[in-house]
Order: sequence, then structure tokens, then C-alpha cells
Amino acid sequence: MKPISPVSRSGRFAGGPAVEVAQFTESISFDRRLWRHDIQGSIAHATMLAKIGVLTKKELLAMVRGLNQITKEIAAGKFKWKPELEDVHMNIETELTRRVPAGAKLHTARSRNDQVALDMRMWLRDEIVALLGEIADLQRALVSLGEKNSDVLIPGYTHLQRAQPVYLAHHLLAYVEMLERDCERLWDCHSRVNVCPFGSGALAGSTLPLKRELVAKLLGFVDAKGKVQLTQNSMDAVSDRDFAVEFCAAAALLAVHLSRLSEDLILWASTEFSFIKIADAYTTGSSMMPQKKNPDVAELARGKTGRVIGNLVALLTLLKGLPMTYNRDLQEDKERLFDTADAMRTTTRLMAAMLKNTKVNKAACAAAASDPALLATDLADYLVRKGLPFRRAHHVVGAVVALAEKAGKPLNRLTLAELQSVDPVTGTEVFGRGALGVFDLQRAMAKRNLTGAPGTKEVAKQLARWREQLS
Ligand code: ARG
Repeated sequence: MKPISPVSRSGRFAGGPAVEVAQFTESISFDRRLWRHDIQGSIAHATMLAKIGVLTKKELLAMVRGLNQITKEIAAGKFKWKPELEDVHMNIETELTRRVPAGAKLHTARSRNDQVALDMRMWLRDEIVALLGEIADLQRALVSLGEKNSDVLIPGYTHLQRAQPVYLAHHLLAYVEMLERDCERLWDCHSRVNVCPFGSGALAGSTLPLKRELVAKLLGFVDAKGKVQLTQNSMDAVSDRDFAVEFCAAAALLAVHLSRLSEDLILWASTEFSFIKIADAYTTGSSMMPQKKNPDVAELARGKTGRVIGNLVALLTLLKGLPMTYNRDLQEDKERLFDTADAMRTTTRLMAAMLKNTKVNKAACAAAASDPALLATDLADYLVRKGLPFRRAHHVVGAVVALAEKAGKPLNRLTLAELQSVDPVTGTEVFGRGALGVFDLQRAMAKRNLTGAPGTKEVAKQLARWREQLS
């Protein structure tokens, strides 16, 4: 890196920064990815400067032409980024001015402080929209897997102990619900990202008669009703990174959801469960054990959560002690934000792809779901229908379970006499011939018809609702 002096030091400084200072303070190595939005912002700003008479029409045209040329070169990978020019903003402006002398007017009433806030907001808007698309695709993959296996029952678990039977689709739709809340949070966050800070200057606006509304409109900073969204305090506008924190928080919760889904898939893919088989292309091998097929995509998805939560904590920590207004500390926001956005987009996409390439082992699921102990609560409900207080019913069924365990048979193999024997006082009154019918799994599933319950009709209804909503 040559110790060249960027325009920001012109006049005031005796020379360029020390080489190690230039290296320590540069951000071009990571903020260059904001280039497209930086150029869009510059074109809008220049258009407005021409409107208020700071630029002539000719100057504006030359600058726009120059910026379009630079756009093409960057897109083609031909642009020469110069680390000694610190960041994306100065690289583009300096190169423009070298080609078009009027470029020297571009920074009128603009600071890198409001410029970087603008670029990040524009970049993040696009990122959120793209992430929402990936999430919807993952939701569709979950719904499809549920539909393809709509008759498959598995045990539902609490404490990772078998609890009650559920449709596999019901389990998968639980994640669709979580992901929908993630989408809502991201959209909500989008509305606060989508506010234009341009015109805030370094911290105190400008004495020139800028047209903030015009720039905001040109850059699409309008709400759903078409109302222009402008920041209302210049000091807040240049130092605010809440929008980045909010995105990282929403993304962290999304990461937690994907991590939980991963954990379920990893368990289900184990020999012990064998509920699913992930296609070879979405698994990896072991360098030593030839028989291994590992669910590394799911494990990495689970692992990404660490860095995404870390990025959120890093941003909060970065902001907590900052005096008003812009401080260079804020340059540290970018890598955390970029890292979270990248991690979540790839993870969400890979999870969807993996699910599209996953098969359900119906026999293993059926074997697990046919455990009659899963219907012990149904037997208690049967007793409640016969008039027993639930606490009493719970106790009686507990005794039935203990008896079955002692007799070494599954619950549904007990005889009516055995059922009745657990409670000599009321046993014969409460256990009738229908008692053993409780263990008919299909009938049991048909009975679970509350809204949100894993019943046959209800799950079909929910699958159809999601199919419709996601189409
Ligand atoms: N690279 C800087 C950042 O990312 C741009 C703003 C610099 N502003 C300044 N006054 N030094 O925050």
C-alpha cells in the first residue's frame, strides 16, 4: 500500500497517513460490495444538485456517463480498487473526478457519514427481500415434504421422550409457522431500514437548499402507500445503526429456528431414529470410516447460529458507548452485517435444497408411532368421558402403565379384566369394552380436531392453507 494522501486529507495535512495507519483504517477490502448502491446514491444526489443549480445539465450528463462507465468496469471485475483511498466512497468519487472534472462537485453537501448510512440501508433492503425469498422457498420445501408424506405418523416428543402421536406434517408445519414469524419480523425491520438519511451531511445537514424528498423518491425510499420516508434528525441519521441491529436480531432468531430444525433432522437421520434418509449429494463422508454418511449440511446450519448470534452481540457492543454522532467505530458494523446476511442466505437455501432431497422412511416412522404408550393420555380422556376427575383418571392410567410394564406387555395387549383390576372400587364401572378401542391409532388421530391440533382433518387443512398462502 503506497502512503498516498486521499482527498479527505487535502489542505489540512502535511502528507499521507503512515502505511500501517492506512492499513488499519481502510475498509475497501470489505465495503466495496456496496459499490452498486453507492453509485445509485451518487446519481440521485447529482440529479438533485443539478435541479438546485449546483451542477449544469452538461456536468450532470458527463457525471452520469462517467458513473455508468465505472459501473460497467466494476461489474466486469476491471475496476482497480485502491486501498490507499480508504473506502468504496472515495474510490468511486476519486476515479470519477479523474475522468470527469465536474466530479469534484459530487460531494457538495454530502459526507461519507450520510453516504455510508444510505448505502447500507439500500444494500440491506435488497438483502432482506432476497432472504425473504429464500425463507419462502424453505417453507415450500417443508410443506411439500409434509404433503408427500401426509399419512405418516411419528411420536411427538417432550424432553426427547416419546409423548403423543403426531403427523410428520404437523411437526414440519411447526417450522413453517416459526419461519413465517421470521418473515414478519424481517418485513417490519425493512420498514425502518427503508428511511432515507441523505441530506444529513456529516451530522448537521447543509446550508444549501437540498431537495431531500427528490433524492429519497429517486432511490425508492417510499412506504407501501407511496409516502416518502426521510430521517427526521440529522444527528440520529448519521450515527444510527438500529436498522442493522434489528436485522441481525431477526436473523439470529431465524438462525435459532434453522438450528432447531437441523437438530431434528440430524436425530431423524441417525440409525437410532431412521425416520429420514438425506440424499447422498446432501451428505458427506468420513475420511476414516468408510461406512459413514454424515448430515454435515444440517450440522453446519446449526453451527452458523454461533456466528450469527455473535454478530448481533458484536453490533450491540459496538454501539453501546458511542457518543453522538458518527465515530469511526461504526466502520466495524459492516463485516458483522455482511456476515450475518451471507450466512443466513446460504443456510436457508441449503436447508431447502436438502429437504427437497430427503426421503421419509415410512416403515420406521410407523413402527415408532405404533407404540401404544403414546395413547396413554387418550385412555385418561376416555375415563374423563366416563365421569372421572382428570387427576383420578391420570392416577388410574398410571397404574395401568405400571401393570403392563410388570406383565411385560404393551398397553393395548392388556385384557379388559386386567384394566379393571387396577382399581377394585371403580374399575368395573369406568373401564368398559370401548376402553381398548382407544388404542386404534387412526381413530385416535381423527379425534384430535381442535384448531392447531395434529388431527387428520386439521393437519390436512393446515397443509392446504400453507400451500395456498405460499403459492
Ligand atoms: N468507511 C467509513 C465507514 O464505513 C465511511 C465513513 C467514514 N467517515 C469518516 N468521517 N471518516 O464507516
